[in-house]
Amino acid sequence: NYYAIIMAGGVGSRFWPVSTPEFPKQFHDMLGTGETLVQKTFARLSQLIPKENILILTNDKYRDILKEQLPAITDEQIVLEPDMRNTAPCILYASMKVKKQNPNAVMIVAPSDHWIEDEVQFVANLQRSFDICEHDNVLMTLGILPTFPNTGYGYIEYDKLDSRQVKKVVQFREKPDYQTAKKFIQRRNFLWNSGIFIWSVTSILNAFEKFQPEMYQLFNNGYDTFNTELEKQFIAVNYHKADNISIDYAVMEKANNVFVLPATFDWNDLGTWGSLYDKLPKDDCENAMINGNLVVENATNNIIRTNPGKLVVIGGLEDYIIVDKDNVLLIYPKKKEQEIKQIVAKINAKT
Ligand code: GDD
Ligand code: MG
Repeated sequence: NYYAIIMAGGVGSRFWPVSTPEFPKQFHDMLGTGETLVQKTFARLSQLIPKENILILTNDKYRDILKEQLPAITDEQIVLEPDMRNTAPCILYASMKVKKQNPNAVMIVAPSDHWIEDEVQFVANLQRSFDICEHDNVLMTLGILPTFPNTGYGYIEYDKLDSRQVKKVVQFREKPDYQTAKKFIQRRNFLWNSGIFIWSVTSILNAFEKFQPEMYQLFNNGYDTFNTELEKQFIAVNYHKADNISIDYAVMEKANNVFVLPATFDWNDLGTWGSLYDKLPKDDCENAMINGNLVVENATNNIIRTNPGKLVVIGGLEDYIIVDKDNVLLIYPKKKEQEIKQIVAKINAKT
């Protein structure tokens, strides 16, 4: 009864210029290990879940990239979205498809672009979560011990008095502002949302019906067509009508049957150049280099990525991101890396 849906439709705009709307970060080998992030995610999940029960959700335009990177999967395992509508609509749609295959399914919803170390622990956490979701009507997330007031994450407050391994969630707050995030961290009973969710197909569909009745109705109208030849046409006509909203705002913040399992594996969402920097090997001056050869004069704590084989000379720079890709060059302070997303949006608006 185990299923997985991998969300691989994001654009990863903070990793510009390597990650672009034509070729986003989940399809790149960001760590230089020889495997792309989506390939790694698929391999990790197939340790516990039958390969044929793993669906991958992505935009129409990434279909060919996905087929090339995961040649063993069938067309039925690729769920294509004609429009970018964020994670809530695609999770709802895929969950209904899974329900049609197996109404007793329990499933993990996983991002395609994270770094996870200690896969033995990951599989153990997943197994534990599946065991719970097979019996209880709960929405589970894997929580991460926070280390700083990151405003790009969801925060999970759990019941301090709950001494069980899996804890009842008091509140789920998606992307709070800096001051709020700071307060949360000081209170000590907060975790980051890893964005990895586990639930039964029944529990998540009930939650959508309750908290997003319109969206639920929209997709439920197409239920009869799902997993048949008529599905594609229904989706082509209707998908764009769904609200553009993430699962975090659409369901997790509203539900009162959320539980969190504090993860026992090392996790990094590889959301920004800075988080990638943390995971890369460094030279004596704490510079991380991808692809090229580096000559350093008085420069520390930088992350540099170039086209393969390029010689890069830097001096006097500290805490910078330097990315050279085709006809784009980015030089930006690591401390301000969250701004890259807005800058890319501005550039795209002009072109
Ligand atoms: N198929 C599909 N379609 N996938 C999508 C879409 C979409 O429209 N939009 C985003 N994704 C994929 C991304 O590729 C990524 O793997 C995952 O869904 C999560 O989307 P992000 O855009 O990366 O979300 P986020 O990082 O801002 O926030 C989420 O993850 C954080 C942890 O990394 C939230 O769940 C936060 O609460 C969480 O802390
Ligand atoms: Mg993310």
